Amino acid sequence: MAQGTALVTGASAGLGTELAKLCAAGGYDVVLVARGAARLAELAADLARTYGIQARPLVADLADPSAPPEIHAQVSSAPVDLLINNAGFGLRGAFAETDWAAEARLLQVNVAALAHLTKLFLPEMVRRRSGRILNVASTAAFVPGPFMAMYYASKAFVLSFSEALANEVQGTGVTVTVLSPGPTRTEFFAAAGITDSGLFRGPAMDAAEVARQGYHAMMAGKTSVIAGARNRWMMRGARLIPRAWAAAQARRLNLG
Ligand SMILES: NC(=O)c1ccc[n+]([C@@H]2O[C@H](COP(=O)([O-])OP(=O)(O)OC[C@H]3O[C@@H](n4cnc5c(N)ncnc54)[C@H](OP(=O)(O)O)[C@@H]3O)[C@@H](O)[C@H]2O)c1
Repeated sequence: MAQGTALVTGASAGLGTELAKLCAAGGYDVVLVARGAARLAELAADLARTYGIQARPLVADLADPSAPPEIHAQVSSAPVDLLINNAGFGLRGAFAETDWAAEARLLQVNVAALAHLTKLFLPEMVRRRSGRILNVASTAAFVPGPFMAMYYASKAFVLSFSEALANEVQGTGVTVTVLSPGPTRTEFFAAAGITDSGLFRGPAMDAAEVARQGYHAMMAGKTSVIAGARNRWMMRGARLIPRAWAAAQARRLNLG
C-alpha cells in the first residue's frame, strides 16, 4: 500500500527529479509534471522499478494558464497528499530591454501556476485534514535582484505567499513549507543562459542535498527552510543590511 500520492512539478530535471525520488523512496506514488515527455517517462519507469510505487508522467506546460485545472482534473481519481510546486526558471536582462512574452511566461510558471495549483489542491487537503505542500522559492526571494528583477520578485512572492498560507492553515492538519535554495547544480543556469553569472561560478550545492533538506522540512511541517548553512548565514546577513546594499550586491553577482 502506498503512503499516498505526491505531485511534483518540474520533475524532469534538477531539484524536481530529486524531490520525486525522495517521495518515491518514502513510499508515495508520484505524478511527475513537466514539458519534457521523454525524460518524465524515463524517470517514471525508473522510480516504479526501483521503489515499487506507481509513477505517472503528466506532460504539461505550466506557462499555459489552463494547465493547473487540467492537471487537477487528470488526478481527480485519488487524493494528492503531497503537492510540490517546484517548476520554475530564470531570466536575465535590463527590464527596459527584455522581452515581455518571456517575462509573462515566467510569471505564469513561477507565480500563477504555483498559486493556482495550491488553490485547487489545498481545499481538498483541508477537508481531509491532511496534506503537505512544498513550494520552491530561492535565496533570491530575500533581496531585490537588479538585471533579474522579475525572477527575484517572483521568488519573493513564493516566500511571502507560502509563509502566509502556513499561518492560515494552522490547526487544519495541513502544512505549507517553503524551500529557499541558494545556487544549486542543476540545469537552471544553462536554461536561463546565465552560466557566466557570479551565482553560477560561486559555491553551489548538490541538488540531492537541497531536495533532502526541503523534503524533510516538509515532512516535519516546518514553515520555511533555507538550504545549506552558508546560505542561511548569508540570508541572515541580507536581512540586516539596507535593501539598497543588498540590491548592489545582487547586481554584481547577476551581471557576473
Ligand atoms: N538551481 C538553482 O541554483 C536554484 C536556486 C534557487 C531556486 N531554484 C528553483 O528551484 C526550482 C527547480 O529548478 P532547478 O534548479 O531544478 O532547475 P532545472 O534543472 O532547470 O529544472 C527546472 C524544472 O522546471 C520545469 N519547467 C520549466 N518550465 C516549465 C514549464 N513551462 N512547464 C512545466 N515545467 C517547467 C523543467 O521541465 P521541462 O523543461 O521539461 O518543462 C524542469 O523540470 C525552480 O523553481 C528554481 O527557480 C533553483
